[in-house]
Amino acid sequence: MSRPKLKIAILISGRGSNLQALIDQFGPQVANSPIEIVLVLSNRPDAFGLTRAERAGIPTVTVDHKAFADRAGFDGAMDAAIRKTGAELVVLAGFLRLLTDGFIAGWHDKLVNIHPALLPSFKGLHTHARALEAGVRFHGCTVHFVRPDMDTGPIIAQAVVPVRPDDTENSLGLRVLAAEHRLFPQALRLIAEGKVRVENERAIIDDAAFAGGILYNPLGA
Ligand code: GAR
Repeated sequence: MSRPKLKIAILISGRGSNLQALIDQFGPQVANSPIEIVLVLSNRPDAFGLTRAERAGIPTVTVDHKAFADRAGFDGAMDAAIRKTGAELVVLAGFLRLLTDGFIAGWHDKLVNIHPALLPSFKGLHTHARALEAGVRFHGCTVHFVRPDMDTGPIIAQAVVPVRPDDTENSLGLRVLAAEHRLFPQALRLIAEGKVRVENERAIIDDAAFAGGILYNPLGA
């Protein structure tokens, strides 16, 4: 018997290109998807990602952070909206608000983020400009379980993107984004297949194809 689909809620704040990559791999139109996207939640009513989800026939909700006096109230409202759907995993796909420790604790090892840098380097914002400024030869992106300190937690997968001498913030950012669109679905598929576990704060992949962990250098990067 095949395993039931993993129900995921995806949180966004903006254009939702990573969300689109997940819809393309796991959306309602995909036969034999190991994942069901049960909710797309945005903290901004004008996020284009909401339109992408609606077009795909995926339920959406906006929880506007501006409507709440504090972060605990905002996170509590998001948590309630997510739990109502029966989601088993929360996926941060360009969700640009910091979450409270309480929210994070409630989704321990069930909360995944994508970050546009090779963590633990370049936590926070403006990662591509900072990578260029630092003169690193390799940059990339990371999928990780979320812990309370910003951009920390067990690393599930990373993709490496070489920095070219003539790169600008924009050109480098576009290549990293293309890598994100490949890496994120791959990491979530492994989770849905029950092949990712956390031991001593390290993510272990139980799949012979990724015995050394997922680290890849996307073709053409
Ligand atoms: C992505 O590059 C994602 O890695 C980043 O925001 C972008 C969202 O783009 N996330 C963070 O910086 C989180 N700290 P998208 O809306 O097109 O997916």
